[in-house]
Amino acid sequence: MLPLGFLGATLVLCHGVSSLGIRDSPPRATLKNGTYEGLHVSSYNQDLFLGIPYAQPPVGDLRLRNPLSLNESFDVKQAVEYAPSCYGYGNSDAWPYVLSEDCLTLNVIRPAGQQNGSKLPVAVWIHGGGYVMDYSANGVYNLSFIVQKSVEIQKPMIAVSLDYRLSAWGFLASDEILSHGVANLGLKDQYLALRFIKENIAAFGGDPEKITIWGETYGRDDGLFRGVIAESAFEPSHANNLTLPNERYANLSAAVGCSDASDTLDCLRKVPTDVLDSAIAKIVPTTSFYPVLLAQGTFAKVPLLIGSNSDEGTTFSPSGINTDEDFTQSVLSDGPDENNTAIISSLYPDIPSVGIPVSYHAWYNHGVPSYAFQFDSLLPNSPAYLGTGHFQEIAYVFYNIEGEGYESDQVPFKDATEGMLKLADLMSRMWISFVVDQDPNNHGISDIPEWPVYNNSLGYASEFYFNTESPRAQLDNYRLEGTTFINAIQETQYGR
Ligand SMILES: *[C@@H]1O[C@H](CO)[C@@H](O)[C@H](O)[C@H]1NC(C)=O
Ligand SMILES: *[C@@H]1O[C@H](CO)[C@@H](O)[C@H](O)[C@H]1NC(C)=O
Ligand SMILES: *[C@@H]1O[C@H](CO)[C@@H](O)[C@H](O)[C@H]1NC(C)=O
Ligand SMILES: *[C@@H]1O[C@H](CO)[C@@H](O)[C@H](O)[C@H]1NC(C)=O
Ligand SMILES: *[C@@H]1O[C@H](CO)[C@@H](O)[C@H](O)[C@H]1NC(C)=O
Ligand SMILES: *[C@@H]1O[C@H](CO)[C@@H](O)[C@H](O)[C@H]1NC(C)=O
Ligand SMILES: *[C@@H]1O[C@H](CO)[C@@H](O)[C@H](O)[C@H]1NC(C)=O
Ligand SMILES: *[C@@H]1O[C@H](CO)[C@@H](O)[C@H](O)[C@H]1NC(C)=O
Repeated sequence: MLPLGFLGATLVLCHGVSSLGIRDSPPRATLKNGTYEGLHVSSYNQDLFLGIPYAQPPVGDLRLRNPLSLNESFDVKQAVEYAPSCYGYGNSDAWPYVLSEDCLTLNVIRPAGQQNGSKLPVAVWIHGGGYVMDYSANGVYNLSFIVQKSVEIQKPMIAVSLDYRLSAWGFLASDEILSHGVANLGLKDQYLALRFIKENIAAFGGDPEKITIWGETYGRDDGLFRGVIAESAFEPSHANNLTLPNERYANLSAAVGCSDASDTLDCLRKVPTDVLDSAIAKIVPTTSFYPVLLAQGTFAKVPLLIGSNSDEGTTFSPSGINTDEDFTQSVLSDGPDENNTAIISSLYPDIPSVGIPVSYHAWYNHGVPSYAFQFDSLLPNSPAYLGTGHFQEIAYVFYNIEGEGYESDQVPFKDATEGMLKLADLMSRMWISFVVDQDPNNHGISDIPEWPVYNNSLGYASEFYFNTESPRAQLDNYRLEGTTFINAIQETQYGR
């Protein structure tokens, strides 16, 4: 069964005129608000709809406000290039980008020839970057490869990516912000985008009942999606109280001349974009934005594919820790009291060879089929001290064999071994299989051991261990004692 390509196959482009001499029309999709004309990419036989707004632009008086859904209709609009990305700090320069406050858009990549009624499963990629950087148009997140693979393995799917507000634009916190109900704007953007996708994806040929969100985030279960893929779902620390956020808010207000305003928030809305941008860049360290406390137990009760990389912790760990005392101070500064810090220090002794992974034992018990993984494969040119750190699995899962978006000396598969290429093939197929069938095992490669559902009834379970030699299931009991302890004190000590 290959329900695609009928329309696409006729699009043999020759200066916009097909071989039959009939003028080709660009791909179209008619949404609630109007019709978008996308871009046909013949090399992948895909239709791209790029830069589609999913919210009113958060500019002018809508800055630092909850995102508003679209309320205007139109006839036909173009969706043929990526829109500017949200202001962020620390982006790689390996790929060109344009930043703007007007950035709440999404992109739809579909196998050519789909239309309302095709009902393909949908994967929604929500990029990471610690809530301070990165953007969906980044070449490293090129969705053409995984969509093409989905077609090749006869599990065609649609992929969507989206941008949301970052750093102070999306995650400013303070008493002022909380009392006006405008905290966590970046997450609210994501949520509104998911609602937009639910309402409109059928028009592109997607099935609104088969949406999987894929990224580094969780969501509330409002029936907006049926599955979650969480890579590196890891939040090392965030504010325990508003002391620091308030100070940062005050510093930012002062820097742009808003300190004495009777309504600082209103004043911040009136500051010219470039002035606010440079103040944020100067005042606000790039690693200091996290959502303000979200209530416990609001995880969506949908099938979950979740995992981390063997040394996931290293990328985010504070550096410059050379003594046990440094380590103790660092743990203390995240929230735990002295007694618990002592216990954590003894559970995580200074033995670099055991790595700093992240684990999720406590999060699986929500009664839906979940699949856990650990990824353990070094990319060339990754600094040795990072090990298999954060972000390393991205090129594999995206099947980005071309190295799109990477610095030329960091192209992940440049001198790839056979094992690396096979691993990328397997991982991308498993991700597709999860999106399409809610089970990663229908990948179509023989001789791969079963990836079992995570079953926590014994206190730990099996996870899939991705490595280039022999990908397989293994017991997820790595540092069980330590992670169980940290999970047990999450609420009292870390406030989450
Ligand atoms: C525009 O689209 C949004 C999102 O699908 C929808 O909620 C809204 O009702 C639409 N409004 C109009 C006027 O078409
Ligand atoms: C859309 O919403 C904005 C913000 O609330 C409002 O200013 C504008 O008048 C609305 N437009 C329509 C057509 O309702
Ligand atoms: C992915 O990269 C290829 C090659 O550069 C390009 O043709 C294609 O349009 C890109 N796809 C997306 C979704 O950006
Ligand atoms: C898809 O087509 C059906 C009828 O076949 C129609 O009811 C529905 O509104 C269409 N959906 C979209 C998003 O265009
Ligand atoms: C807030 O957290 C900081 C550490 O980030 C701590 O020093 C301070 O005592 C805390 N304040 C309150 C009121 O708990
Ligand atoms: C706020 O500014 C003061 C004075 O420059 C500085 O000492 C302090 O570290 C800043 N606080 C934050 C949270 O950035
Ligand atoms: C830490 O442990 C000591 C000895 O058990 C106890 O007296 C003290 O109350 C504990 N402190 C906290 C903050 O729990
Ligand atoms: C989990 O394992 C236990 C003990 O082996 C078994 O009784 C139970 O049925 C399993 N649950 C699932 C969902 O597979």
